[in-house]
This record gives sequence, structure tokens and C-alpha cells, in this order.
Amino acid sequence: MLRIRKFRWEDTFMVLGIINEAAKAYGKVLKPPVYHEPQMTLDEFLCEANRIKFFVAKMNGKIVGVAGYEYVKDVALIRHVYVKPEYQRKGIGTALIKHLESLIVKEDKTEKLIVGTYNVAYWAIAFYQKHGYGIVENSNIILKKYYNIPDIQRENSIALKKLLLKR
Ligand SMILES: CC(C)(COP(=O)(O)OP(=O)(O)OC[C@H]1O[C@@H](n2cnc3c(N)ncnc32)[C@H](O)[C@@H]1OP(=O)(O)O)[C@@H](O)C(=O)NCCC(=O)NCCS
Repeated sequence: MLRIRKFRWEDTFMVLGIINEAAKAYGKVLKPPVYHEPQMTLDEFLCEANRIKFFVAKMNGKIVGVAGYEYVKDVALIRHVYVKPEYQRKGIGTALIKHLESLIVKEDKTEKLIVGTYNVAYWAIAFYQKHGYGIVENSNIILKKYYNIPDIQRENSIALKKLLLKR
């Protein structure tokens, strides 16, 4: 059974492990220094988790995925969507993103959703496109405006956007 609940601090090491394990997929399509291991250090995760509203997906009581969102300026950013590799393509990423979107709709602060991912991460791009996100023309400008990420990451990333339907 799949359940989604708010991230708790006690989930930290489990979630960080999933992020760094799932992010190894980038190593197949990116070269160093764009690709680096780990994807996220503990300090970086703690910094992100202080700001981002994270949720975990639990399958039969075990954490198997994570995703979060944060409001920046006039948009909501979808952040750090990661599913444990052996649980991928079973609808867990979909359940997480739908959960985030439903909360953003309920909170009614913005209709604009933005997500950034590496421009060669074809699986992530396919995933977001499947959920109604479209690649923006001016990714670099959008990423610069909304994301606080290193230049090398921004230069190798694209942004996708979605407009939420008003209830
Ligand atoms: C992107 C990710 C979160 C999707 O999670 P998931 O639980 O596998 O996704 P779902 O099962 O809900 O959705 C599957 C859809 O995602 C896309 N997708 C997932 N893996 C894919 C792959 N290897 N190749 C192509 N498309 C893929 C497809 O659109 C797929 O739909 P389909 O099965 O009908 O073809 C997961 O693949 C992941 O953790 N990847 C590594 C980290 C990453 O790239 N995260 C994105 C950070 S912005």
C-alpha cells in the first residue's frame, strides 16, 4: 500500500540515501564535473529541508520516494523528486507530484509551477511532460530567476512549467 506523508526530521538519512541512490542515473548521461557524487551532502539536504516542504512516499511502511515544493517569487517550484530505483515506474513519482500539486492548488498562492532538471535527463523530462509540464523557451533566464543553483548546474538544465487549473 502506498501512503504519502509529510517529511519528518527522523526520515533524513533514509531520504538522503534515496536521493543519492536515484541520482546515480545522472551518471549515465552526464560527465564530471557536471555529474558529481553524492548528488547532495547532508548539510545541503538539511539546508533544503529547512525551506522546502518535503513529502515522503511509503510503500508497505518503507520510504521509497521523496518530493517537495517551495514558493519563490510568483511561482511554486517542484523540488527534488526522487524514487528509489527498484520502485521506479510503478506510479510513485506520479503519486508524489499529484500530492504536491493538490496542496499547491489548495494553498491558492499561485497557479504557476516550475520544475528544473538536467537537460539530458530524458526520463525526468518525459515524466514531467506526462504530467502536463512543458519545456520553456528561455530556461536559462527562468532558472536564474527562481533557482539558487551553481552556474554549471543551471547551464546543463532546463525548466518546465505548468499552469494549474483554478478550482
Ligand atoms: C523521475 C522519477 C522521479 C519518476 O518516478 P517514477 O516513480 O518512476 O514515475 P512514475 O512511475 O510515476 O511515472 C513513470 C513515467 O515517468 C517517465 N519515466 C520514468 N522513468 C523513465 C525512463 N527510464 N525512461 C523514460 N521515461 C521514464 C515516463 O513518462 C513514465 O511513464 P510510462 O511508464 O507510462 O512510460 C524517477 O525516475 C527518478 O527518481 N529518477 C531519478 C531522479 C530524477 O531524475 N529525478 C528528477 C529530479 S528533477
